Amino acid sequence: MKVIKNVAQMQKIASSHLKSGDEIGLVPTMGALHEGHISLISQSEKNNDITIVSIFVNPIQFGPNEDYLKYPRPILKDIEICRKNHVDYIFMPLVENMFPANYETFIEVKTLQDILCGLFRTNHFAGVATVVAKLFNISCAERAYFGIKDFQQLKIIEKLIKDLNFRTKIVPCSIVRERSGLAISSRNSYLSVEEKNISGNIYKILKEAAEDFKTKDLNVVKRDAVNKFKKIPVSKIDYTEIVNFYDLSPADKNTKKAVFTVAVWIGKTRLIDNTVMTKQSKL
Ligand code: PAF
Repeated sequence: MKVIKNVAQMQKIASSHLKSGDEIGLVPTMGALHEGHISLISQSEKNNDITIVSIFVNPIQFGPNEDYLKYPRPILKDIEICRKNHVDYIFMPLVENMFPANYETFIEVKTLQDILCGLFRTNHFAGVATVVAKLFNISCAERAYFGIKDFQQLKIIEKLIKDLNFRTKIVPCSIVRERSGLAISSRNSYLSVEEKNISGNIYKILKEAAEDFKTKDLNVVKRDAVNKFKKIPVSKIDYTEIVNFYDLSPADKNTKKAVFTVAVWIGKTRLIDNTVMTKQSKL
């Protein structure tokens, strides 16, 4: 396994693999690797000749009052996890190499970026779309692996690929959860033991809503779930929305496949989660 810190060098190595016919899988991360990332890495290894894991805490996707400086950076542990999981290259660029002082180009995916999390995190998705487009170009990836926990991010990247004709294909990967149901995330390290226990309620409510969605009226499903969310202790809701699976527009009574997506603060930690919901087919 090689650790590459320079953008030009990574791009040169990736292009030479591409020329020799290797297929490259990219696992874009901000580090603090966990079981969720490991599942993306394993998936990439199954599908590709070469796996590149990028570790880059991307400053342009954090707002001024967000946790950029505090974001966990356990570099040595991350390298060890990659080594154990047979990653070929870790790409770990410096901020000044990715975004030099004269950097000026930003990608915006209109409509999709200004709803849900975008309403609470101004410029966040432009920051994500821009860095991901750069990572696709640098890594020459055939496939890139993203968790569906960040469902809005996934949809934005799919749209970016379509609109800008990137050759990279997206492989969406399932949410990995703790036994309590809490979706695994690097930010879970901010939670106290008590907050972790409380956070297990988020998935419990989503699962019950998905069950109700099969047969019940959409407004009833949403009302019942929102009432349950309001009862979670030490929590504050940013949003709880049921949206169309395909384009994130608000779900209505004709929606057959939806996503219940939520952002909830547990104490000082903002957690996002979702579940896909489908109507029971009539026989
Ligand atoms: O999901 C993440 O970890 C980040 O948003 C990503 C895709 C690595 C871009 O910085």
